Amino acid sequence: MTTVLVTGGAGFIGANFLHFLRRERPRWHLINFDLLTYAGNPENLADLAGDPHYTFIRGDVADWEAVTRVFSRHDIDLVVHFAAETHVDRSILDPAVFVRTNVVGTGHLLEAARRTWGPEARARGRRFLQISTDEVFGSLGSHDPPVRETAPYAPSSPYSASKAGADWLARAYGRTYGLPVLLTHCSNNYGPYQFPEKLIPFALCQALEGKPVPIYGTGGNIRDWIYVEDHCRGLLAVLEGGEPGESYNLGGEQEISNLELVRLLLAELVAQRPDLGPRDHLITFVPDRPGHDWRYALDLTKVRTTLGWQPQVSLKEGLRRTVAWYLSHPGWLERVRTGEYRHFLQRQYGGVAG
Ligand code: NAD
Ligand code: DAU
Repeated sequence: MTTVLVTGGAGFIGANFLHFLRRERPRWHLINFDLLTYAGNPENLADLAGDPHYTFIRGDVADWEAVTRVFSRHDIDLVVHFAAETHVDRSILDPAVFVRTNVVGTGHLLEAARRTWGPEARARGRRFLQISTDEVFGSLGSHDPPVRETAPYAPSSPYSASKAGADWLARAYGRTYGLPVLLTHCSNNYGPYQFPEKLIPFALCQALEGKPVPIYGTGGNIRDWIYVEDHCRGLLAVLEGGEPGESYNLGGEQEISNLELVRLLLAELVAQRPDLGPRDHLITFVPDRPGHDWRYALDLTKVRTTLGWQPQVSLKEGLRRTVAWYLSHPGWLERVRTGEYRHFLQRQYGGVAG
């Protein structure tokens, strides 16, 4: 049986990935190693709780003892490393935890994998997938071509700099020790279970409550949006078919300015909840994010030609599914917003991190 260690599986993409793996690879043993910070929500995985092939371990990737314990107790074949501090605005307010989790944590996982797997790692089919971001390539101008995997790194925020540091450690372990490391750079994800600090779920919450929907600066900044299930499919394709030592861009090829995106989102919300009435008047321009990257865009030629992956869900369809999910999970949203699920953590684990 294949055993996969998923770090950060109680967060947004990690939870979607675990659900996706359960469906696509029902025989794999899934280990979810997550600290359950403010961004990790055990409720996201409630349906896996009784599954004999699912193990949850509460732990910190930056805790060397905890990381080595997982590797000594389980025969891990694959690592999919999501665990990270992920919100750019938080990284501007408090960079230190980003360095600790994203850089030190990734270093610990790589070192534990290297020591446990030894020089036979590649021959035995072991793989370490480092989940990176398009943000490590830095800001593009409106007319720049999309970036390839070989583009130089130029991170702007403490978040993207810490992800870049983690990536370089992963690459170094591949080059120096032959650890079978693969990297993916993905664009902005959206879909179910996303913590309402990120643009789409935050704007939805605000609009549902009739509160201002803040747009940083002019709203002209451009992001490329990918529906989270497309990302999960791409990750499995890279994990199973990618070449160790290589990195792969995964994007949605759906670039749009923040202002246009929020208008589309609000229109979809009103289409599904006509009783709310028009919501556009809630859009409020606020001071810009410091160092705000203008645009990200990824060239998908490599993953398309080598692995046959491409995004399938259009932005319109993805927004329809996303709005429908949040509207049909008002309890989830309410508990996340009020921090109510943290009481569960307090009872279950005696404390809450982050
Ligand atoms: P998230 O913030 O929703 O979840 C992060 C998870 O990591 C949470 O469950 C949290 O409890 C856990 N975690 C945080 N610190 C930890 C620690 N020290 N030890 C163990 N677990 C810890 O994140 P997300 O949006 O799902 O992103 C997952 C990964 O994908 C990250 O590595 C991120 O950089 C990358 N990524 C995200 C996006 C995006 O649009 N969200 C795009 C590209 C890449
Ligand atoms: O590109 C991939 C990255 O996407 C991931 O690596 C990050 O983990 C993830 O957080 C995300 O980063 P962004 O900064 O692009 O996402 P965010 O949702 O915070 O913001 C999207 C855009 O919307 C960005 O240009 C800032 C803007 N914004 C954001 C918020 C929260 C607003 O205008 N108003 C807001 O209230």
